Amino acid sequence: MPMLSGRALHNVTNRNEYFESLIELMGNTYNEETNPDGIINLAIAENSLMQRTVADYLNENLRLHTKQLTYGDGTTGSYRLKANLANFLNNYFHPVQDVKSTEIIVSSGILEHNPKSRERWTKKRMGEDFYARSRANAIPVSFGDIDPFSIEALQCYEDELVKFNKEKPGAQIRAILLANPHNPLGKCYPRETLLEYMKFCEKHDIHLIADEIYALSIFKTSSNQDAVGFHSVLSIDMEDVVDPRRVHVLYGMSKDFSSNGLRLGIVVSRNSQLVEAMSSITIFSWPSAPADLAWCLMLEDSAFLEYYISEHQRRLAEGYEFLAGILDNLGIDYTRGSNAGFFVWADLSFALERPADGSEPGLAEDMKLDQKLIQGGVHLAAGLGYQAEKPGWFR
Ligand SMILES: Cc1ncc(COP(=O)(O)O)c(C=O)c1O
Repeated sequence: MPMLSGRALHNVTNRNEYFESLIELMGNTYNEETNPDGIINLAIAENSLMQRTVADYLNENLRLHTKQLTYGDGTTGSYRLKANLANFLNNYFHPVQDVKSTEIIVSSGILEHNPKSRERWTKKRMGEDFYARSRANAIPVSFGDIDPFSIEALQCYEDELVKFNKEKPGAQIRAILLANPHNPLGKCYPRETLLEYMKFCEKHDIHLIADEIYALSIFKTSSNQDAVGFHSVLSIDMEDVVDPRRVHVLYGMSKDFSSNGLRLGIVVSRNSQLVEAMSSITIFSWPSAPADLAWCLMLEDSAFLEYYISEHQRRLAEGYEFLAGILDNLGIDYTRGSNAGFFVWADLSFALERPADGSEPGLAEDMKLDQKLIQGGVHLAAGLGYQAEKPGWFR
């Protein structure tokens, strides 16, 4: 067999088995008519509440022109889309300084730029993908009983950084990846905590990458009246705290715009060097022109946009209350007070098998429960994929 390079071989021997099984399950999704024996796949963060609305809107309004069959305005998205996005961010993310279209890079989804970061610096599963692509490692950070949204959590990063520098003198930590709103906890970081992250990054000469892909997937229910609202890092006055050139925002079409399949994601950065550096590799993640046009149409139609966002938030609240009600009735514990995202982080540890040797259930039992659920026809996102610190938690 012709030999592959060492780099390619690494990705063969370190295949991401989680994704392989996920793709298999995605190809067997339940459908009442076409695949009644399929799996009900709740493990993927897709916004099914608004997909019909978006599909109807696009079917009515999207007309392809010959421009959408060309290479268009180049590898970083059309000028039209970047102008629309700057306008959108200025209206909805309340930046201290207006975002300019030249500070935006569009690509085919934000995973192009960032493995999802969870309550860790990044989670292992995505960390593996990150490594497969860029040869950068992800370092998990444990919080124990410390609230990951609190200022105290920064000490955990500090400790991990000191440990890392001691153990790996030749290597360097480059960035913190933060998902705000958080996936899977469905909560937002308080302003003060975000400021601490900024200070931390300035102190240690590292970048802050804020994944804000759920920015508008926010909702209010009677159970989350005191929840912290979403604050974009762009809305924080960072002068005297951090060099704005080390703070970057990720956003995309997948979640707030219910369009995972259109594959559009953006980076917003005030770091012109970073924008230039990224522009030189976006040829590999060139956004599709019809998808680019689809987002333009939605962003330009302010009446639709307003209706869409408020209806989306109303349905999220309704969906959350529905599921929380079921969990309450069943006596299943879950993270309280969530106000963002399409998910509930629930404790199914009562269903974990007990290991034969009498020890506490761990990763193996987590995986068994995951498989049992799939065999029962339902796929949830297992906590092991998020490096959950306790077994039995599912999203
Ligand atoms: C926090 C977070 N970031 C990014 C993504 C993926 O974004 P995209 O579809 O733009 O690659 C997800 C999807 O689950 C996510 O939860």
